[in-house]
Amino acid sequence: MIFKDDNLVVLALAPMADMTDWPFCQICRKVSGGDFVIFREMVSSEAIVRTNEKTLKMCEFDQNEHPIIQQIFGAYPEVVVKAAELIVKNYKPDGIDINMGCPVPKIAGKADCGAALLKDPERAVSIIKALKKANLGVTVSVKTRLGWTDNDDILKFAPMMEETGVDFISIHGRTKQEGYTGIADWEKIAQVKKLVSIPVFANGDIKNNADIKRCLEITGADGIMIGRGALGNPWIFAGIDREDVPPEELKKIVIEHAKLHIQHYGEKSITTFRKHLAYYFKGITGIKDLRSELVRVKSIEELENIIQKIPG
Ligand SMILES: Cc1cc2nc3c(=O)[nH]c(=O)nc-3n(C[C@H](O)[C@H](O)[C@H](O)COP(=O)(O)O)c2cc1C
Repeated sequence: MIFKDDNLVVLALAPMADMTDWPFCQICRKVSGGDFVIFREMVSSEAIVRTNEKTLKMCEFDQNEHPIIQQIFGAYPEVVVKAAELIVKNYKPDGIDINMGCPVPKIAGKADCGAALLKDPERAVSIIKALKKANLGVTVSVKTRLGWTDNDDILKFAPMMEETGVDFISIHGRTKQEGYTGIADWEKIAQVKKLVSIPVFANGDIKNNADIKRCLEITGADGIMIGRGALGNPWIFAGIDREDVPPEELKKIVIEHAKLHIQHYGEKSITTFRKHLAYYFKGITGIKDLRSELVRVKSIEELENIIQKIPG
């Protein structure tokens, strides 16, 4: 739990497609406790409304995951509202977050969702207004970027969002055009924080506990949202950086995470767990050969054997 001027600052796990799933969220809760908010990876409002089985499964969570916010993407207010209603009724998360920042062409290009809403603020406003009107009894929030190409867009966009009655806004300090390049602009988030009175969550390039402090000092934000900095480091929400985790504890948690992943996705899914392994063992020196074994791992038994050979 962290404080700013005696006020509690919310820590949050950022939504990350294919990453902030049930197994990873379980691991974060296990090692970091309950004092942070989980944002589950985005789901398509259209797929939810079509009751697509795989998409519905992505919205399931365990009680220990509260407080938990489900993120949705969509372009049509009525579809987003229908999807949110269905999710709230069936799964009871604490909030619904609308993705207004995703840059990938499938979402922001063709579909007029994600970051494309920054270019179409009227549509963005109508989505949030419709959601607030539906009165679902959960928080309604927006996660966005600084703009499409201009990092000043947010200075117009955030007040428009505030007017809709949105409960809070999370800002990744980059434009859509920047993708993930350059450095997140925390100064711009500070400007937004001064401009609006709704809570602002700062996001982008917060990699460790020193960054959390620095970002808070610069932005004055009400919340700190961590994405990639939590991958391979689920301890970050407990004030612990991965370098300080004893190697035996790290190995134990990696195996536990792998087992939950397999429990959730099936025996063959160890291949989709490899991405997590890259994060867990990032920066550890002298394991070049083992690293190339890790990226090819085919079973949990094999993973246990490789991990045993990692020094420490
Ligand atoms: C693999 C990956 C998947 C992501 N998926 C989503 C998503 O589903 N919804 C969203 O709003 N942002 C998504 N993002 C963006 C992150 O939530 C976050 O805004 C971004 O990574 C910057 O924060 P960070 O530097 O703490 O990672 C994703 C990022 C990554 C790396």
